[in-house]
Amino acid sequence: MSTFTLKNNALFAENVALTDIANRFATPCYVYSKSALIQAFESFSAGFKDSNHLVCFAVKSNPNLAILNLFAHLGAGFDIVSGGELARVLAAGGDPKKIVFSGVGKTAAEMQAALNAGIFCFNVESRSELIRLNTVAGAMGKVAPVSLRVNPNVDAKTHPYISTGLKNNKFGVAYDDALNIYLEAAKMPHIAIHGVDCHIGSQITELSPFLDAFDRVLALVDALEQQGIHIQHIDAGGGIGICYSDETPPQFGAYAAAMQEKLGQRKVKLVFEPGRALVGNAGVLLTKVEYLKPTESKNFAIVDAAMNDLMRPALYDAYHEIQAVTPRDTPAISYEIVGPVCESGDFLGHDRTLALEEGDLLAIMSAGAYGMSMASNYNSRPRAAEVMVDDETCHLIRARETVADLFALEHTLPKA
Ligand code: LLP
Repeated sequence: MSTFTLKNNALFAENVALTDIANRFATPCYVYSKSALIQAFESFSAGFKDSNHLVCFAVKSNPNLAILNLFAHLGAGFDIVSGGELARVLAAGGDPKKIVFSGVGKTAAEMQAALNAGIFCFNVESRSELIRLNTVAGAMGKVAPVSLRVNPNVDAKTHPYISTGLKNNKFGVAYDDALNIYLEAAKMPHIAIHGVDCHIGSQITELSPFLDAFDRVLALVDALEQQGIHIQHIDAGGGIGICYSDETPPQFGAYAAAMQEKLGQRKVKLVFEPGRALVGNAGVLLTKVEYLKPTESKNFAIVDAAMNDLMRPALYDAYHEIQAVTPRDTPAISYEIVGPVCESGDFLGHDRTLALEEGDLLAIMSAGAYGMSMASNYNSRPRAAEVMVDDETCHLIRARETVADLFALEHTLPKA
């Protein structure tokens, strides 16, 4: 499904021409399709409609308040990894009782904020964190709902930087230690064991790693039951990949069916933490060609978006399709699509066959996840505007930063 389609040789987001968006909001600009977001959330949820489940959108993939608010209205919960994300979810009207809190480095202050908000569950990633949480909750006269994130030692077969379920990763507790840590947790007065959690990585394009990890989690759930510890929910994490070029990630329906079949008759709620699969293909990064620069070995198209706007190509060598917003019928040639940042790693695409002229608009596709959320101000570049399209209407959901914003928090030294 793509809500970014060519109509009369012009690329549209729903029923708005991307050219109109560039004229109105300038470039670089992230553009999201509301209907694509809704469609992704609903089709993910549809597979679980007959079972007790909660879909917690992974905020880190796209934390814009408008996106969080949209998902909150659709009934989503949220997977957060910081006090900042907690504050965003609450500001966007998210239900604290549907928040799971992941992450290996929760501070005491973040734990307090989450306990005050009354979140659904802490996904605890180490024994030390469990001990700290028990202390923090105790000082507040509260009991913290907890899952242990277990590391199933499963190869997610994805980029090593975004693979998290192998035993040499920093995430979760070792599978073989989990039972003992649960037994310890059961004795802690300010910890209530609610679930088991597992997240093995991101942009996973096969079903088997999910199922292998889930088998291990289920074996642990059964072992805990034998010890008299009843698990109320299993959090299977996020990680379902999307199609950037020719990947064939698992269909939501197939994933849901396979997971539910493995769950069998166990009376356990299923929690999921998808990020990319809900937003990745619902957004594009709109950019303008500033200069064409033919050289002896390569043709460079220097655009006004850069690695600070979309870091994925530079960081992971990730592929994003790049489309002309108004395709030309002149002969296409190979271009290096690069930004203005002073690094050779600042590229958005290699060897792209396009017919371009200076001033043309390009759409960097599949940029809705980990695009704006990983953007920086490197080279003192204000971060891009964000626009949400709803049929024929555009909503500015984040204004372009100004240069004044960039150093508003900085101070020169006092005069000696
Ligand atoms: N849950 C936890 C605990 C996570 O760490 C993540 C992502 C998710 C859920 C959501 O995963 P997803 O469904 O989006 O795959 N910046 C990288 C991706 C980093 C993923 C980090 N954790 C990228 O641009 O590919």
